Amino acid sequence: MQNKLDQLANKIAKAQLGGGEKRIESQHNKGKLTARERIHFLMDEGSFEEIGMLVTHRSTDFGLDKQKILGDGVVTGYGTVNGRLTYVFAQDFTVLGGSLAEAHAEKICKVMDLAMKNGAPILGLNDSGGARIQEGVVSLGGYADIFYRNTLSSGVIPQLSAIMGPCAGGAVYSPALTDFIGMVENTSYMFVTGPNVVKTVTHEEVTSEELGGASAHSTKSGVTHFTFQNEIACLNGFKKLLSYIPQNCEEDAPSLPYTSGDENRPALNDIIPANPNQPYDIREVINGTVDGESFLEVHKDFAANIVVGFARLGGKSIGIVANQPAYLAGVLDIDSSTKAGRFVRFCDAFNIPLLVFEDVPGFLPGTDQEWNAIITNGAKLLYAFSEATVPRITVITRKAYGGAYDVMNSKHIGADMNYAWPSAEIAVMGAKGAAEIIFKNEIKAADDPAAKLAEKEQEYGDIFANPYRAAARGYVDEVIKPEQTRQKLIRAFAMLQNKAVKLPKKKHGNIPL
Ligand code: HXC
Repeated sequence: MQNKLDQLANKIAKAQLGGGEKRIESQHNKGKLTARERIHFLMDEGSFEEIGMLVTHRSTDFGLDKQKILGDGVVTGYGTVNGRLTYVFAQDFTVLGGSLAEAHAEKICKVMDLAMKNGAPILGLNDSGGARIQEGVVSLGGYADIFYRNTLSSGVIPQLSAIMGPCAGGAVYSPALTDFIGMVENTSYMFVTGPNVVKTVTHEEVTSEELGGASAHSTKSGVTHFTFQNEIACLNGFKKLLSYIPQNCEEDAPSLPYTSGDENRPALNDIIPANPNQPYDIREVINGTVDGESFLEVHKDFAANIVVGFARLGGKSIGIVANQPAYLAGVLDIDSSTKAGRFVRFCDAFNIPLLVFEDVPGFLPGTDQEWNAIITNGAKLLYAFSEATVPRITVITRKAYGGAYDVMNSKHIGADMNYAWPSAEIAVMGAKGAAEIIFKNEIKAADDPAAKLAEKEQEYGDIFANPYRAAARGYVDEVIKPEQTRQKLIRAFAMLQNKAVKLPKKKHGNIPL
């Protein structure tokens, strides 16, 4: 009996790979793995349990009655990743282009429901030609069933999407509703309307890769958070990402063992340049502070003026948001506010404490920013920080100017601890700009206006280009030497680990979308 079952399972597994070696080969020739191979490389060895292998397709139109599509083009189930329960679905492009039909959607919904009920992450491996054309509205309904579940699961369990082939039309909205997207370079693409429709409507000539490949979505649109050179790197990348995040919103992220030792980091003392207008790479500050090699950057190639990602500090998972003086002087703009706002909300939803490194000269001026709604978009980051109830700490390394001072996790919007390095300048604006405005008449009337400006700049700078005014008010809790940063943060996060804050009772807020 068992033998017969094994034979049947083997037969089905082979059939699901697309009916034979040719189909597997066609996938490999495109630089792609099959659905089952992907699951094999993702899950801990031998841990995968398949659900719904015997499900067949339902439609009988357009010749589909003459074949039996076993598994209906998607492999679903559960197993462990790094020893932790994870649900997965993998679309099988070798079966009718991985197209989504009624039974295919039901299988995905079943694992989504199980993931929700059992509080564990779900990872979708997307490789599909979209709605199965032969099934019409039924497949559209199937998509909507998935979108609905994506939305209800948001903030309850982590939802991750690996794009490993086509993902077109309305199909893109399931990944878009999940927490993180990763794309494989040259073999995956995402777009709402493909190159042919684009040509007809706008007369633009563009390839699939240019329109919606990994490069376009990592640098231009910001749709994807990660890009990977190949599928194995992609699967490993998601395994790593999962190691920083909890199973669900009720749990904490896993910690690594940590023995406290000498936490002094003298190298941090030498990062800030003597000239306040000279850039430096904030990643040096991040890497110099967190546990060795633990920083996992998210959205690396998009809105480079802000750096976000996960790291470990004393073995514990944290989320980092840091202005990047090495790009656009670290200014806040539409893209960087949206990027950071979304990351803050993920961390807050999943109990991951937030650490902010601040060096920000303000918001980016200009018609482009104003007409594209920097007001609304900047407010997203402000809202996200204000609403976050996880432990929140800020370290001001240099500039904290204007409205950006308020936005970047200031004490006033609920940060728990605010540190400043001696190089911090906390003011309405830089000393030169301030002097030009408030001493305009005096400078104009002076015999030597340039010398007067320099004098007034110095005067303003002496008062505000430092952290002590803010510290005197308690807006900054302590001015610390850079080398002390790691020690201070480890202690402060430990002090905050039982933080409990309740937001006012409401149905939900109205984030400025
Ligand atoms: C049924 C499909 C299919 C689909 C592909 N196939 N897409 N079958 N429904 N949507 C089948 C093909 O007929 C073919 O079958 C096999 O899958 C492989 O497809 P190829 O075209 O040979 O592969 P390739 O050259 O790699 O091209 C891949 C592709 C192309 C770019 C994805 O197949 C394509 O353009 N498909 C249609 C995409 C589309 O318009 N989908 C609907 C989007 S609208 P055989 O038997 O020859 O192997 C949508 C709405 C969702 O999804 C709305 C949600 C709200």
